[in-house]
Parts: sequence; C-alpha cells; structure tokens
Amino acid sequence: MPAPGPEVPTARLTLDPAFRVAPVRRRTFGTFVEHLGRCVYTGVYEPGHPTADEDGFRGDVLELARELGVSTVRYPGGNFVSGYRWEDGVGPVESRPRRLDLAWHSTEPNLFGVDEFMRWARKAGVEPMMAVNLGTRGVAEALDLLEYCNVPSGTALSDMRVANGAKEPHDIRMWCLGNEMDGPWQIGHKTAREYGRLAAETARAMRMIDRDIELVACGSSGSSMPTFGAWEATVLEETYDLVDFISCHAYYEEKEGDLGSFLACATDMEHFISSVVATADHVRARNGSSKRIDLSFDEWNVWYLSRFQAQEPPRDWPVAPPLLEDHYHLADAVVLGSLLITLLRHSDRVTAACLAQLVNVIAPIMTEPGGRAWRQTTFHPFAQASAHARGEVLRVEPSGPLYETAEFGEVPVLHAVATHAEDETTLFAVNRSTSAPLSLEVDTRALGAVRVIEATTLSGPDVYARNTADSPGRVAPRPNADIQQDPLRVLLPPVSWNVIRLGR
Ligand code: AHR
Repeated sequence: MPAPGPEVPTARLTLDPAFRVAPVRRRTFGTFVEHLGRCVYTGVYEPGHPTADEDGFRGDVLELARELGVSTVRYPGGNFVSGYRWEDGVGPVESRPRRLDLAWHSTEPNLFGVDEFMRWARKAGVEPMMAVNLGTRGVAEALDLLEYCNVPSGTALSDMRVANGAKEPHDIRMWCLGNEMDGPWQIGHKTAREYGRLAAETARAMRMIDRDIELVACGSSGSSMPTFGAWEATVLEETYDLVDFISCHAYYEEKEGDLGSFLACATDMEHFISSVVATADHVRARNGSSKRIDLSFDEWNVWYLSRFQAQEPPRDWPVAPPLLEDHYHLADAVVLGSLLITLLRHSDRVTAACLAQLVNVIAPIMTEPGGRAWRQTTFHPFAQASAHARGEVLRVEPSGPLYETAEFGEVPVLHAVATHAEDETTLFAVNRSTSAPLSLEVDTRALGAVRVIEATTLSGPDVYARNTADSPGRVAPRPNADIQQDPLRVLLPPVSWNVIRLGR
C-alpha cells in the first residue's frame, strides 16, 4: 500500500496489552428468539422443511446460528412474554391450546414451548436466558416455571417435565424478570415502583428455589423514554440486593436520509450505558453496598421501527405472519458493527447482550417458508466479532478527524476496539465517513513482533446494497489489500466495517 496522499484523512491508535478493560464476555454474543412473526414458526421450527430434523428444527437455521457464533439466546419474549402462559407450551402437542397473542395480534399455536426451546438450544450449543411473565402474571407463575425447569424431580412440576420427556433439569441460569415494563405498550405496564416491588418479590422467591440463578431486572426500553434514569434508580432501590443485572434495550434506524447521524448512533448507546452505570453505582453508594450491578443489553439492533409503526396491525389473528422483516443493507451492517464495538468497549459493565432477534424478525438470518435460508448483511460483523474477539478487551483511544452530525454533534470518524489473546490481537474498526477513505496508522510496538494474519473489509460502492435469497453473497467481508506492515497502516473504505487480525 503506498503512503496515502495528503488529501486522505488519517487516524491513529496504539495497541498495548497493558491497557485492559475486561475479559471478552462470551455473553456479549447473545441473540433472541421471541414468539413473534416468523422467528419461531418457519424460522427455528418448521417440521416438514427439507432440512428439518426429528424435532422439526430447521437444519439450515441451526447451522447458520452456529456459524453466527451465538452464545446465549433469550426466550420467549419480548412483548410476547407479558401475556404468555408457559404451561400452554408443554405436554402433548395435540392437546396444547391456541391462544390470542395480544402483543403481536397473532394466534399462538403453542407447537413450540420451553421443552422444544431447550432441545433446540442444546443442539445450537447456546445458553438459554429465560424470561418470566410479570405483565399478566406474577410470583406464583414464575416459581412454577422455575420449578418445572430447574428442580431435578420429585415435585409436581418437575415430574411433569420428566413425564414430558425432559429427564434432566433444564438448569437455566439466567432469568429476566419480565420485559420492558416501563413501556405503555407492554401488557401489564407498571410504574417503576410497582414493577420494582413485584420484581423484588419474584426474585426473592425464585432464589428460595434456586439461589444460584442470575436475575435481570427490567431497565428502560430506550434512552428516550420519559422515565429513563428515574426508572432504573427506583427499580434498583427495590431490587438491588436481589438481582444481578439491569437490562437496557436500544434500536436505531436511519431517519430522513440522515446517514451521517445513523452511522454515529453508537453515541447514544455510549450515553445509555454510562447513564445506567452511573445510576446503578449511585444506588450502590446509597445502599452502602459492595455489590456491583452489571448491564444486560438484552435487546439491541437496527430496526426500522417507524416503518413498522406506520403499518396496520394484522386484522385476523394470523399464525406466524411476516412481521418486522427488515432487509438490511450495507450501512445497517456497519452500524451493527459499531454498536458491537461499543458493547465490547464497555465489557467491564456490559457482561451480557442479545442482538434482537435471531431469524426473520429484525434478524441476521432470513428464511423462506419451506425454502432457502441466507445471511443478511448484519450477519457478518456479528459472526466476525464472535469468532475473533478473544482474551481481553483493550482500551484504544484513537485520534483522528471528527465530523458534524445533526443528532449527536461532533463525532469521531473512526470507531474502534481491540481484543488481545495469547496468539492473536484483533482490531475492529468502523469508518463512519460517507465520502472518504480513512488511513489508519496503528502503533503495535507494545505487542512485540506481530504480522497481519488477515485483514477484511465489509464495504462497497452502494451503501444500500442488500443480500437476498437469489444474491446471498452480495454483501460479505472481502480481503483488504490496502494494508502495510511496519508500521501498520490500513486504508478503511468509506462506510466500512473492518477486522484486522495480528498474530505472532
Ligand atoms: O424485538 C422486538 C420487540 O422490541 C420486543 O418484543 C420488545 O421487547 C421490544 O420493544
């Protein structure tokens, strides 16, 4: 790579294994399966599909989920969980009831429930993260579900699980105490005080059955919620000693053609994380507690929510209608990469996260009913980060050009993080410029002698290019040949997600 001309902007950063943030958390790479649209039915579950196994799980989706590098899967919702009766989804399939799903105005056939999910999770090699219904239900039903899942045998509900074919307990460690209870759209929406009390009593009782479970209290559904900050403070006042995590949810979309702001939306996620950390630590100080509450960013993604809100809900209560089927383009994938960079940069406090969702519903994997499955553009940054982020997260403090955005003011053009393991140091970098490449100079002296193992870029001439069933490989990472070693310098194309892997 020749030295860039004076007209190419340059950014610089230093990689030093001494500048550690925290270990890379495998749970950063969680996703989400909700009974919503075609996520479950014709997504993970489709008996009769040519690739379906004996349990009716789509083999093509299972394979893609493994390739995506998913660590954890949150289930069964989402808004759905706030009206869900878990016992409808267990036992002989032919006697399971069909129910109205008020959250998504659909009919839930209950062909897939907690036992099917656990079987699927084992096949996918993922850790389950189960949510209980604190919308229409409460302490008793949460206890019933926990008994059904985690008690080995010898009680009514654990024996029911055994009779339903699951001899071993499901042994689920991570539990969400409801979903988005701050949102007026939520069935059983509550004030912070009402929810905090209910979450505390549910947590206290659940720990009487299984003291080692990890519990997530609902935080805010977004940083623009009118109760943001106050909600977390009140909920944690009620639950501090009883829970391990407070949740965060955030979705982003390009608004009115403002690509510059959209590419910088991780700025909001940064503000979200630092505000919730400050609030949790404020409650800790007031409680005189030494315990630290971590953040579970258990819903995050690009979601064209305004388009969804502009649509009429389905009228006739369909089963598994196509809902929230966003078809992602290159810029969406670059934003997703930037959001992942933010989560990794905060691995000291964000110790779990779920990309919402896994398949068909605002998802990295798309399927045709009865047909093909393919990788959306957003699949790639997630899969690359999950595969190559190992060891410790390193603090990198880039210097370089800034640009002005309508939503967030001045924002750095480069957004980056690095991870460091014994055999590999990996740099993840986004160039947010919509017009210019960025020359990135990396000081690697603290790493000793290293060489570039691989450099890839996800970029292209059309930032709105998408993958489809017919062109599944249109947007995918390609080798980046614009790189030189000693000193390390790499050219990042405009609107790009980049992975630079260094080894000995
Ligand atoms: O992921 C889609 C929906 O977004 C979830 O059901 C809800 O929790 C959030 O508002």
